[in-house]
Amino acid sequence: MIELQKVGKQYGSGDSAVHALREVDLQIGAGQFVSIMGPSGSGKSTLLNLLSALDRPTSGRVILDSRDIGALGDDEVTLFRRTRIGLVFQFFNLLPTMTAVENVLLPRMLGGRATASDRADAETLLRQVGLGHRLNHRPGALSGGEMQRVAIARAFVTAPAIILADEPTGNLDSATGSEVLRLLREQAETRGATVVMVTHDARAAAVGNRLIEIRDGRIHRDGAAQPLATSAGTAALALG
Ligand SMILES: Nc1ncnc2c1ncn2[C@@H]1O[C@H](COP(=O)(O)OP(=O)(O)OP(=O)(O)O)[C@@H](O)[C@H]1O
Ligand SMILES: [Mg+2]
Repeated sequence: MIELQKVGKQYGSGDSAVHALREVDLQIGAGQFVSIMGPSGSGKSTLLNLLSALDRPTSGRVILDSRDIGALGDDEVTLFRRTRIGLVFQFFNLLPTMTAVENVLLPRMLGGRATASDRADAETLLRQVGLGHRLNHRPGALSGGEMQRVAIARAFVTAPAIILADEPTGNLDSATGSEVLRLLREQAETRGATVVMVTHDARAAAVGNRLIEIRDGRIHRDGAAQPLATSAGTAALALG
C-alpha cells in the first residue's frame, strides 16, 4: 500500500545541504497503524510530506496505492491526495471564514456541492471528537485543541485509504488525546485504513501496532509497538 524505495530528501545544496532523509526503505501494509518517533530534526515531518505527496523525494521512489508519485503530474497528485489521503498536520490549515462544519465538509465539497447527508456526516465526526457544541464556530473562536480536532474530523470525512498525522495529540489534554487516538485506531481496524502518526509521546505511540524510530534521516529501529507497562498514563489510553 505504501512503499518507499531508497528515498532521500535533501534541502539546499553544497555546504549548506541538509540530508533530511537518507536511503529510506519502507513498506507499510493496509490497516497498519504505524507510529513514528525520533528527535526533533530527525526527518519525521519530511517523511510525512513525502507520504502525502506534498513534497517529492530528491532520490528514490515513493509508491502509494501502487502509484509511483514521482511519475504523476501535479494535478494528478492533488486529486490523489484529496481523494485517498487524510492529513492531520501541526498547523491545521483551517479556513478562517468557514465554520467547523464547513471546514470538515470542505474535502467533500471539492467534488461539487455537499449534500445534507455530507453535512450530517461532518456533524457526526465533530461530535465524535467532542465538538458537538462548536459546530458553527469559526476557527478564530476555537482553542488550539479544538482546531486540532476539527482538522482530525476533516481528515476522516472522505474515509481515506491513508491517514497521515503529525503530532495529532500535541495540543490536547489527555482525555481528548485518548479519544483522538481511539478514533485513529478505529479507522485502521474497522476500515483497513493505513495510519502513519508522528508523535513525541511514547504513550501515544503505543496505540499503534508498529513503531519506527528515525534518527538523523535514517530508520534506526522498526518493530512491533511496545505496549507500555501498566501506569496511570496507560490506563488512560486503555483501548477496548
Ligand atoms: N524546507 C526546508 N528547507 C531546509 N531545511 C529543511 C526544510 N524542512 C526541513 N528541513 C531540515 O530537515 C531536517 C528534518 O526536518 P523535519 O521537519 O523533517 O524534522 P522533524 O523530525 O519533523 O522534527 P520535529 O520533531 O522538530 O518536528 C531538519 O534538520 C530541518 O532543519
Ligand atoms: Mg516535525
